This record gives sequence, structure tokens and C-alpha cells, in this order.
Amino acid sequence: GKGIAVFTSGGDAQGMNGAVRAVIRMGIYLGAKVYFIKEGYQGMVDGGDNVVEASWSSVSGIIHKGGTVIGSARCKDFRERPGRLKAAKNLVKKNITNLVCIGGDGSLTGANLFRVEWSSLLDELLSTGEITKEERDTCAYLNIVGMVGSIDNDFCGTDMTIGTDSALHRIIEAIDAIVATAYSHQRTFIMEVMGRHCGYLALVAALASEADFVFIPEWPPEPNWPETLCKKLAQERAMGQRLNIIIVAEGAIDREGQPITAEQIRKVVVDQLKQDTRITVLGHVQRGGSPSAFDRILGCRMGAEAVLALFEMKPDSEAVVVSLDGNQAVRVPLMACVEKTKAVAAAMAAKEWEKAVELRGRS
Ligand code: F6P
Repeated sequence: GKGIAVFTSGGDAQGMNGAVRAVIRMGIYLGAKVYFIKEGYQGMVDGGDNVVEASWSSVSGIIHKGGTVIGSARCKDFRERPGRLKAAKNLVKKNITNLVCIGGDGSLTGANLFRVEWSSLLDELLSTGEITKEERDTCAYLNIVGMVGSIDNDFCGTDMTIGTDSALHRIIEAIDAIVATAYSHQRTFIMEVMGRHCGYLALVAALASEADFVFIPEWPPEPNWPETLCKKLAQERAMGQRLNIIIVAEGAIDREGQPITAEQIRKVVVDQLKQDTRITVLGHVQRGGSPSAFDRILGCRMGAEAVLALFEMKPDSEAVVVSLDGNQAVRVPLMACVEKTKAVAAAMAAKEWEKAVELRGRS
């Protein structure tokens, strides 16, 4: 049968286990031999016990778990050709020529590079006698399907990345808890949420929690933001509100591209309004915990679609990403999505904020 391997790469995200489970089970159902690769690209490079054939029951009881049970890593070795050469050998030896990569844009770009290089890697392995001519011929093409797992929702080409919904639930729960204590003491809280280069979590959390102000990297505030912020907070208090909530994305910046930190905001509020102000940095609790129903189902749908895509792909097809578009599972060209995601970063670096927001909005 067809040899398919699934791995998770980069930061973990809730729902990855559901996706892994669906890949394994759909693959087995369709008659493929399906493998886990543990520890992401590192496991592919190191081979050995990291590449394990999966069975139907090996993915029982994981859909409700946070993180990724097969491990993940941010791998340096795979960025260099010698690492990819080792990875290619490990795959060929198990007759694996189909990969399902669950990760962010960096991981998916890596997968595409691997596919493009594949035949030259195999030529080199043949020339050094590490694989046979027969192995080279049976494994001539590598097919890649990606799925976007990231709490940040920072990938252009899908409505929601796997993990975002659960992270939002966690954030909202935390804000609700903070609101109760803030109310009691008439305090102001600044909550820092994740999203290195993407303000989605901050923006949506702010809307869903009636926050007073939000800082996101795609739309930095005007230079006089301290004044605007204080006016807004004071106005709310004047109307009888006992607390204020400010959400700041960890990647928030000003119009010069300089970071705006929670501490900076706190100083503004304390100096100008003398409000009792505290900071809460949510950190990795946003990535832990059990996945929401939405992320479990999203992972399952994407995983099943990924396997179908591999079965329908011609040899040497362009890599695709399975994504959610208007609540439909669709297949989109991987590199086009990566390019668009990079265009957002480029627009932000060039301080073209309107463009950054527009590109994000259509993602
Ligand atoms: O990309 C996911 C993410 O959680 C970001 O929101 C955050 O900036 C980053 O990963 C943290 O990375 P690490 O877990 O390696 O510290």
C-alpha cells in the first residue's frame, strides 16, 4: 500500500491530536500504511524509533488532549541539506513518499522545499550507495499535504487555523476571572495574549470580553495613543464602570515599528490616571488545556481531507494545504498561501498598515 507519514511541527496547538488521529484512521481505512513521525522534523532526521507504523488503536483516546502526543520541535538540522538528506533516507527505507505536515508557515515552507529537492537528495543517496536504484525508482516522487496548526490564526488561505478557537476560549475564561477581581478592587488590568506577529487573538478576545482598548501589530495606534487611551479609560469610569481591561498582543508595536509592552501601558495609566493597575501575561496556558469541540472537529475534517488529497494527487504534484474556506474543507496551493502570509509580514515591515490589514482580512 501507499506509505503515508504524519508529523506535527513548530509550536503545538490544541486540535493537532484530532488531526493526527484522522490522518491515521482515514489512511488505514483506505488501505495505506500510515506512520507517525515523532518530534517533528527532528524525528524525521534522526529516524530509528521516531518513525513508527500506526495502528487503528494507537490513536484511541487522544482527541480530547491538548498539545501533540507525537511531540513537536523547532528543528535546526532540517534547515540544512545534510539534515534533509538523512530525513530522505529514513523515509525511503520505509517506503514513505507521502507526508502530512501539521504546523505553521515555517514548517510548511520547509516541507515544500523538501519536495522540490527530493529527486536531487535521492540522486545523492544513490551515488553514495545509501539507497538502491530500486528504492530510488519506487520513491521517485514525494507528495506533501499541509494543515495549519497554530493558535495565532496567522496563515493566509484558511479561515481558522487549528488551535485558535481553543486558545480564545482559554483567554476569555481568564479575562472573565480577572474581571471579577478587577471589579472588586476597581482596578485596571492589562492582559498580554499570544500572537507573535498576529493580532487575531487579541482583537477577537477584546471584542468578546468588552475590553476597553486593544493593541495589535497589524494596526499600531497613532503616536498620541497614551492620550487617547487615558481619555477612553477615564470616560468609562465616569460612566460608572468599576474596572478597565486592556488587551495587548505580545507582538504589539507602534507606528515606528517599536514594541509596545504591557509595562509601558501600565506606566501611562498609572502616571496619568493614578489607577491601580496590574498586568497579567497569559503565556502558554493559551496553548495548553483541552481542545474545544470546534478544534477537535476541525482537526478531524482537515486530517481526513489531507489523506483524500494524497490519494487523488498525481505524482510530483504541487504541495497543497487543506484549509477551511466558508466552512468547507478545501485544498489550496501551499506556496501561494505561504507567499501571501509573507506579504503580510512585508507590509508590516514596510509600515504599510492598511495593506497588512487588508491582506489579513482576506485570509
Ligand atoms: O506561534 C505560536 C506561538 O504560541 C506564538 O503565539 C508565540 O509567540 C510563540 O508561539 C511562543 O513560542 P515558544 O513556545 O517557542 O516560546
